[in-house]
Formats: sequence, C-alpha cells, structure tokens
Amino acid sequence: MASRRKDRTSTDRFVEPVAIDADIEPILRARISAKRVIHSMHVASLAQELARCHGVDPDSARRAGLLHDLWREAGAGSVLEARRRGLGRAMEFDEDGSDVLEDWMDGNPVLLHGALAAYEARERFALPQVWCDAIAFHTTGRGGMTIEDMVIQVADHACEGRRGDHVDEWRRTAFEDLGRATLAMIEHLVSNLLEAKAMLWVPTVEARNDLMTRFGPRKRTIA
Ligand SMILES: [Fe+2]
Ligand SMILES: [Fe+2]
Repeated sequence: MASRRKDRTSTDRFVEPVAIDADIEPILRARISAKRVIHSMHVASLAQELARCHGVDPDSARRAGLLHDLWREAGAGSVLEARRRGLGRAMEFDEDGSDVLEDWMDGNPVLLHGALAAYEARERFALPQVWCDAIAFHTTGRGGMTIEDMVIQVADHACEGRRGDHVDEWRRTAFEDLGRATLAMIEHLVSNLLEAKAMLWVPTVEARNDLMTRFGPRKRTIA
C-alpha cells in the first residue's frame, strides 16, 4: 500500500520527525497518553521546521511543541492546579470552578491546559517567555499573535496525524505565509464554534480581527 507521504504533492514539505529531549521525556510520558506523546512529537517536528523557515529559534520551538499539551489530560485537576498557581480572579473558590474559568470558557477546564503548560515550561524548563506565551495561547490564539504564537498554533493544527480537508493546505501555506495560514485556521475555529452553537472564545475573536488587519483582505498598509 502506498504511504500517505508518497501520496502527497511535490510541494509538500517533508518534516523530519524529532526525538523527545531527554529532560522532557519522563514528565511527558508520565502525564499524557502514548497517543498524545506522538501528537506532541509531530507538533514539535513541524514547529521546529516552521521556526527555521521564519527565522525564530528552532530549539525552543521544538521544546514548546513537546510541552504544549502537558496539562491536556488533567480534566478537573486543571482547576485545582490553576488555583494553586494563582491564575484565578477571585479570593474564594467557587464550586463550579468559575473562580479560575473565564465566562467564555463555559465551564470547560480543558481550556486551562495551555496556561498551565506555559507555567510549567517556564518554571521547570526555563523556556523563553515568548515561547511560553505561544504555549499559553495555542488553543485559542490571541490578539497581536507573534511569530512564535503562530508557529505553535499552526504546528498543533496542521501537523502529521491531524485530519481534515484543510490540513495539508494549511501546512503548505504556513511555510510561504505564516500569517495567512494562521488566519485561515482561526477562521475555521470560529466557524466550528458557531456551528456547534458554542460560546465564542474571546481571545479567538480578537485573534481573528487582528489577523484580518495584518494578513487578510482588510490588511492595513502604512503610508
Ligand atoms: Fe492543546
Ligand atoms: Fe495539541
């Protein structure tokens, strides 16, 4: 049977799979499932290549990719950890977690996993702040996304193993025009939230409007 790689067009980039950094491997394997470890390796591989292509630090990109989902499987434990880290906005704990969950999170503790992984990437692995921020916002995006933010965002959603009609196109575009690829992905996310009649994630809306003015049809040129 022909491999998926062979089926790709000649414009697809081959992304070399990375090994897991020795200092990260034990914690990664202890915290997340084998399947998600593989996903994290794919994210790291693509992030490293995109970073090289767009002139930012490939080593930090790889490490951010490996760490981005460290708290993805913690469930309600995320709420407890967020309180412990002081991420909450209230002095007293609420039973429903609303002291640490923003209104737009609609009671979903999974939406805390980026912020928690970013915290640990900084404290335990001394990852540079710009890459910790990229981890923090990898699920939602944010207004004023940096190249590092876009590298992790695209790597997470267009890496090997992701399925969907747009994945190959996003991956290809990301090497040519990272901003345009990120805008396409964020718009897809907004559409999915609308279709599911879910709350719109506030940072995602801010990301979309900002990316529109920087890379989309409403691109503003400075005279
Ligand atoms: Fe994630
Ligand atoms: Fe992920």
